[in-house]
Amino acid sequence: MDFHGKRVLITGVAGFIGSNLADRLLELGANVISVDNLFNGRLENLDIALKNKNFEFHKGDIRDLNFLLDLFKDVDIVYHQAAFTSVPQSVIMPNNCNDVNVNGVLNILNAARRMDVEKIIFASSSSVYGDTPTLPKREDMRRLPISPYGVAKLASEAYMQVYHQVYGLKTTSLRYFNVFGPRQRDSPYSGVIAIWLGRIIRDDDLIVFGDGKNSRDFTYIKDVVQANILAAEHDAPGEILNIGANLPITLTELAKLMLKITNKEHLNIIYTDPRPGDIIHSYADISKAMELIKFKPQYNQEQGLKDYFKWYINKYEIELQIN
Ligand SMILES: NC(=O)c1ccc[n+]([C@@H]2O[C@H](COP(=O)([O-])OP(=O)(O)OC[C@H]3O[C@@H](n4cnc5c(N)ncnc54)[C@H](O)[C@@H]3O)[C@@H](O)[C@H]2O)c1
Repeated sequence: MDFHGKRVLITGVAGFIGSNLADRLLELGANVISVDNLFNGRLENLDIALKNKNFEFHKGDIRDLNFLLDLFKDVDIVYHQAAFTSVPQSVIMPNNCNDVNVNGVLNILNAARRMDVEKIIFASSSSVYGDTPTLPKREDMRRLPISPYGVAKLASEAYMQVYHQVYGLKTTSLRYFNVFGPRQRDSPYSGVIAIWLGRIIRDDDLIVFGDGKNSRDFTYIKDVVQANILAAEHDAPGEILNIGANLPITLTELAKLMLKITNKEHLNIIYTDPRPGDIIHSYADISKAMELIKFKPQYNQEQGLKDYFKWYINKYEIELQIN
């Protein structure tokens, strides 16, 4: 697709994924209109985008329908990335999570419908599968979320499908599997790779919740951004697509790989109690996305980790040697 002249709106733009997506869309020539309430996002993530004349940032909340109606005027594509994104916090504050992740999604859909937006691409999550034993996860299998966050994403996907069936909106949900890369926050509620990178830099041992046999399909941000671009280029209305690397790794293997890459093999891996809401195994079957939007991941975990660490070292001028 030629993005030149297209008006593309990103919600949650100051967050990890939204800001990377904005940079890529601007490179492709799109006009990017964007929104974030800065609950978890940071303006620092927009340092490249804000210098681009084709980028517009609005501080605001997706729970405010009137604000969205103004913003959605003449918009072609909406990328809905804004969310209450912490699984552990959703266990503590389920209502807040529902408010943003379900009511917020309904607002987005209603605003898009009223303002004749052509397409909505929604950031869903592998958390909808919960702890069902079948691996890899296929889109048509049973979903049994084990956190309020997972329930909210499942409800939102269903709304996306219904708004396609009932109102003809072109909606596509992308179920991301554990994304990592530049701009991911190092906080107790972040992804494990960002947390462990912070610990490696501080020369602290790595802490694993559970016995380390849990596995994840860690997916590099550049592949997730590419999936979003492809979802704009290829129509998959009313569909739900897994977006993963298709390469499961246990947490112990990941910890060892990170220590090896960073020359920090003297650090220990410490095992503690599992966290409520954490899934045991997660691994994506991506054949549907390969078929419908021609998705093909380019980064395995080692390549993604190295690319991420190099970006981090450069950005924060850290002394860390990468193998
Ligand atoms: N990072 C992952 O591994 C992962 C995996 C699966 C799904 N997802 C989904 O991808 C999307 C982006 O995730 P991320 O990792 O970039 O998270 P993030 O927390 O970095 O970004 C989310 C952004 O949404 C903003 N936001 C929150 N509530 C808002 C509101 N009410 N109004 C406007 N903005 C609001 C936050 O300030 C933040 O900038 C989310 O929908 C998330 O659920 C992420």
